[in-house]
Order: sequence, then structure tokens, then C-alpha cells
Amino acid sequence: MGGITTDIKLIDEKGLRLDGRRPDELRPLKIEAGVLRRADGSAYVEWGENKVLAAVYGPRECHPRHRQNPARAIVQCNYNMASFSVSDRKRPGPDRRSQEISKIISEALEHVVFTHLFPRTSIDVYIEVLQANAGTRCAGLTAASVALADAGVPMKDLIASCAAGKVADTIILDLRKEEDNFGQADVPLGIVPRTGEIVLLQMDGDLTVEEFNTALTMATDACYRIYETQKDALRQKYCVSKDDIAGDIEEAAENIEESKKENELEQQDDVPDDQEGGQ
Ligand code: CDP
Repeated sequence: MGGITTDIKLIDEKGLRLDGRRPDELRPLKIEAGVLRRADGSAYVEWGENKVLAAVYGPRECHPRHRQNPARAIVQCNYNMASFSVSDRKRPGPDRRSQEISKIISEALEHVVFTHLFPRTSIDVYIEVLQANAGTRCAGLTAASVALADAGVPMKDLIASCAAGKVADTIILDLRKEEDNFGQADVPLGIVPRTGEIVLLQMDGDLTVEEFNTALTMATDACYRIYETQKDALRQKYCVSKDDIAGDIEEAAENIEESKKENELEQQDDVPDDQEGGQ
């Protein structure tokens, strides 16, 4: 970032990017809710070449205890990049970058969770990056909010997140690694779509005010598209259509019919002897 020079042509003559995307085009995004059995809630996100898993536990007793807040729950996020997630093996364990990302994601999520409902507790969010190609904090935050909803944690809304930036003097959406490394700016954004509030905004590199506003608008528009994919993932898990349960309804109707017939037969058998033979 910050304009490191490269021979790679980040924007070609047709105005297209390295992977053939237009400047305002997102990488393909897939979200699945409830992928882990042991966690209270979970989500898996594939976003371009990023593969990110989020798991949620809680609200549960807060550890370490000195972090407990008597008035509300705290959201503790742990963002981790697997050693095998990048081309140069990443040293395992926390580093300054993962601590920073954990902090900004915790703070963003605390804005949407109704923390006042669960005093003294902790809501623990684990984000594991299995494969990285820039934009993992946005993918992590997007996955974490679906995982929180999957865990049934009361929230005012999901958070949708996406970055915009600048390469070869062009404002672009959703940077991939080469664009992040050799570009001029990167602006990750997280919003609460229902209210339009901004809960995550960072900037690496230089932009003029005008460029910044263009990037912000581009990323905001993308967040609303991402929000639809997040809701679809939750619908996929929790909504059943009439067609899905048509077989069950038919079976239930047959059972009712059968027990009705059995009841009628039992009632006939229960008629006392002196009433039989027609009085
Ligand atoms: O992933 P995100 O864009 O949110 O954060 P970043 O710090 O801007 O990192 C950009 C990208 O650099 C990551 O997504 C990885 O693909 C790559 N990276 C890496 O290869 N090795 C690291 N130790 C850290 C990041």
C-alpha cells in the first residue's frame, strides 16, 4: 500500500482489473450460516479467494473476570490467520495486525449487539482465516455478524462490510492482494444497513476528499449488496417453504385420518353389552 512501484498493470487499456473485474465490481461472494455443530452460531464465507470461518459462543461467563462489565456484555473477538492461509507461511499466534483487527471487529460488533441485556457476560467471536487474498477483515466482520444471528444473539441488525481503494489513479471496489500491495489506498468500511451507521472505517494510503467520498459511496453500495447475501444465508438455514414440507404435511394428514378411524372403531367396541342388539 502507499504506491509501492510494480511492473504489474493493475488496470488495463479497457479499464479492467487483473482478474477482469470492472472498477466497481465485487469478487464472487458465498455465505453459509450454521456450519459448525459445537459452536452456538457460525458462518462460512468464500469471497474471491478468501475463505473465512466465524464461530460464536455466548453470552457466557466472562473470562478473564476483570473484564466483566456489571452493566452489559462485552464482545471479544479473536481474529486469526492460519499459517497456511498465505503464500509465505505466516508465523502462528497473535501479532500486532491480528490484535488490531480483533479490536476493530469487537468494537464494530458491540454497536449492533444488545449488550445491555446480558450484564457481566462475554460474547466470544472467533474468526479463522483459512485462505487470504486481501479484505479478510471485511470478510471476517461479514461472517461474524451472520454467526451472531445464527447463535440467536439479539442485535439491531447485521453488519455488512467491504473495502474500496485506489489503484493506478482509479477508485476501485474490493481490492485483491496485488491491488492492496501495490495500490495507492485501501478503505475498509463496515455499516449497519438498516440505519446507515458506519461502525468500521479505516484508511491506508492517500486520497483526496473527492476520491475518499467516491470510495465511500462505492463501498457503501456494495455493503447493501452483501447484506442481501447475508440475509439469504440466514433464510436458507431458517426458512422453510411450503414445498419443502409438502411431504411432511401429507404424512401428518394421513396419520390424523388413521387415528380418527381407530378412535371410531374403539368407540364402537366400548358400547355396553345391554345397549347392544338395539333397544
Ligand atoms: O486482509 P485485510 O485486507 O483486511 O488486511 P491487510 O493487513 O491489508 O492484509 C492484506 C492481505 O495481505 C491479506 O489479506 C493477506 O492476503 C496478505 N497478508 C499476507 O500475505 N501475510 C500476512 N502476514 C498478512 C497479510
